[in-house]
Amino acid sequence: MAPSAAAGSAPVPEIAAPRRAATAPPILPLAVRGLGYSADGASLVSDLNLDIADTRVHVLVGPNGAGKSLTLRLLHGLLAPTAGTIRWNGAPPDRRVRLRQAMVFQKPVLLRRSVLANLTYALRAHGVPRRERHQRARAVLDAAGLSAVAGRAARVLSGGEQQRLAVARAWAVHPEVLFLDEPTANLDPAATRMVEDMIAAIRDQGTAIVLATHDMGQARRLGEEVLFLHRGRLRERSDAAAFFAGPQSPAGRAYLAGRLLA
Ligand SMILES: Nc1ncnc2c1ncn2[C@@H]1O[C@H](COP(=O)(O)OP(=O)(O)O)[C@@H](O)[C@H]1O
Ligand SMILES: [Mg+2]
Repeated sequence: MAPSAAAGSAPVPEIAAPRRAATAPPILPLAVRGLGYSADGASLVSDLNLDIADTRVHVLVGPNGAGKSLTLRLLHGLLAPTAGTIRWNGAPPDRRVRLRQAMVFQKPVLLRRSVLANLTYALRAHGVPRRERHQRARAVLDAAGLSAVAGRAARVLSGGEQQRLAVARAWAVHPEVLFLDEPTANLDPAATRMVEDMIAAIRDQGTAIVLATHDMGQARRLGEEVLFLHRGRLRERSDAAAFFAGPQSPAGRAYLAGRLLA
């Protein structure tokens, strides 16, 4: 199970559970078949098959250059595959699917606006009515511990605060799927912990999470299922407890032991 709020840090307040249009079918399951991505003659993601039907935390691990970032971008529809198919409950990852998902990058991409405006802008883009925008923005700012800096320019925040804002913005749109690409790679342990607490809280509210990380401590803390990627191929897929007790694949064992660098 994913941990909820860590000992020693403030508990994350409840945010209203996602409200779905009664008519909208669920976005899961995800079905990926024969997915490939090649560029300049190099095969960077190959023959990837993957089904995700539940809202656990799925951690995508593997050495640098394994194809984690490319895989997230393909699944979220930011990059078109050169082979295979991606279907979210039957639909390709087009704009309509993307609006029901959110993605957080290693380096937060923030607007030159206030902290609050970064949130209300995203909510407007997602079609959230004006009256509700402020209320939702305030709730996630509170959860992110950013209420005191709501009026400040987003770009003057510390690195940790900026990333919390990026996660809060993703949370505010009530995504059904949240992709996170090395969200704490630039953060110190305290800031990392705060972001991890937010991720656990988002998961607890029923969002499916796909988290790419090369931080195995983080994968252990948050992961419920491990997807081990090596040289563009999905080498192993296991419950996190089983993976950390002993990976099935030689490459997985080498990676966990710190002996696999690329
Ligand atoms: N747009 C691209 N064109 C060509 N090569 C790319 C492109 N994006 C990534 N790569 C290469 O693909 C491989 C996988 O990259 P990436 O998905 O970023 O790995 P990871 O996130 O696991 O570190 C790397 O060798 C990288 O240099
Ligand atoms: Mg990456």
